[in-house]
Amino acid sequence: MNVFKAAFCRVYQFGFRAAMPILPYREPEPLPSVERIPQKLRELGVSAALVVTDGGLRALGMTVPLEQAMARAGLACSAYDGTAANPTIANVEAALAAYRAGNCGAIVALGGGSSIDCAKALRARLAWPKRSVKGMAGNLRIWRKGPPLFAVPTTAGTGSEATVAAVLVDGETRHKFVMNDFSLIPDYAVLDPALTLGLPPFYTATTGMDAMTHAVEAYIGRSTTKQTRAWSVEAVRLIHANLERAYRDGRDLEARGRMLRAAYLAGMSFTRSYVGYVHAVAHSLGGWYDTPHGLANSVLLPYVLRAYGARVYRPLKELAVAIGLADAETEPAVAAERFICRLEEMNRNLGIPEKLRDIRAGDIEMLSRRADREGNPLYPVPRLMDARELRQIYAAAAEHLDGKEH
Ligand SMILES: NC(=O)c1ccc[n+]([C@@H]2O[C@H](COP(=O)([O-])OP(=O)(O)OC[C@H]3O[C@@H](n4cnc5c(N)ncnc54)[C@H](O)[C@@H]3O)[C@@H](O)[C@H]2O)c1
Ligand SMILES: [Fe+2]
Repeated sequence: MNVFKAAFCRVYQFGFRAAMPILPYREPEPLPSVERIPQKLRELGVSAALVVTDGGLRALGMTVPLEQAMARAGLACSAYDGTAANPTIANVEAALAAYRAGNCGAIVALGGGSSIDCAKALRARLAWPKRSVKGMAGNLRIWRKGPPLFAVPTTAGTGSEATVAAVLVDGETRHKFVMNDFSLIPDYAVLDPALTLGLPPFYTATTGMDAMTHAVEAYIGRSTTKQTRAWSVEAVRLIHANLERAYRDGRDLEARGRMLRAAYLAGMSFTRSYVGYVHAVAHSLGGWYDTPHGLANSVLLPYVLRAYGARVYRPLKELAVAIGLADAETEPAVAAERFICRLEEMNRNLGIPEKLRDIRAGDIEMLSRRADREGNPLYPVPRLMDARELRQIYAAAAEHLDGKEH
């Protein structure tokens, strides 16, 4: 990256870092189960809520306990179940129509990151009925809160229940973009591991490695605090010890509970300390090819960590020590490589491929430009890379390309 752009990125990141203590971060109020939602709605004076979810979860009957609890409390409950994995602006507009048709006064997002992000964007649309979703993309463009938002995660991955972010796809350009605003942090989060028991092995694996990616990217970045580093370390420990367990036995409630906690902590960490190029590249793939977010991240993470080189030896050594792969005496380069190798081993044990099938040579230039725009100047990555340098990551991770771009 040229020195002027690099200097601009670092100054921009420094500004956000310096402002961190005065920014209005908050945590959602935790609720133990969906049964508690009607009582909260009554306290808020709300008589009807919209559940935002996806078709698969609805078909599995995952919304029924909430719908029954609402009916018992005499509250109205309608549902929007059209959320796509990699949710689109059209999904948000359809949810908005359902919200209005149901005369709703609150939103309950029930599902993975896709449903939660769709609900967050709906909240922004309701706060600013005359503004488009695209018009609120980027950083701190919303401020106004919109109706009460409950997040009920059913994957242990995105941590969206704790973050300022909503990630949406523009269906026309297939561009995946991020809205970051404090008003998007949910008011309540139902962290109930029983809701994740039915998550199939592929999604258990890939969403769990998404959480790992959040924890690692936040930890190695340049805008960490003592608190975010502690959350990241705890998340890495929990995922390292429990993800393969949850993958092997999906009914293991203890492992599921620890994964849900880890995903939450990793979300708390990265929403303050940011992600990095793994996410910037993964979002470009999710928008263009519909690559599942967790799959893209889990495959890309080792490639991006190696591309950062010596800049991440020290923080990766600390993570390696935290999970017992190294000790104080181990050379940082050796410890870092052990940590990356352990991520690759976890991927293998979780049935995650080494490379991504979707990436096509002819798309790399456009995709890397999108990743550059997302990552720079916002993400305080350990080593800055521009679009040209990012192209090598796509080529390295592409199944058909043998590490070359053409
Ligand atoms: N806002 C944030 O902070 C943030 C952070 C990371 C990722 N994201 C975004 O979140 C999205 C991905 O979310 P995700 O990884 O949670 O996946 P998802 O919400 O797309 O769900 C993946 C699949 O799993 C199914 N599923 C979910 N829970 C289930 C359960 N308990 N039982 C059975 N099936 C279940 C869903 O129906 C869906 O088919 C991406 O768009 C990504 O960009 C957002
Ligand atoms: Fe993510």
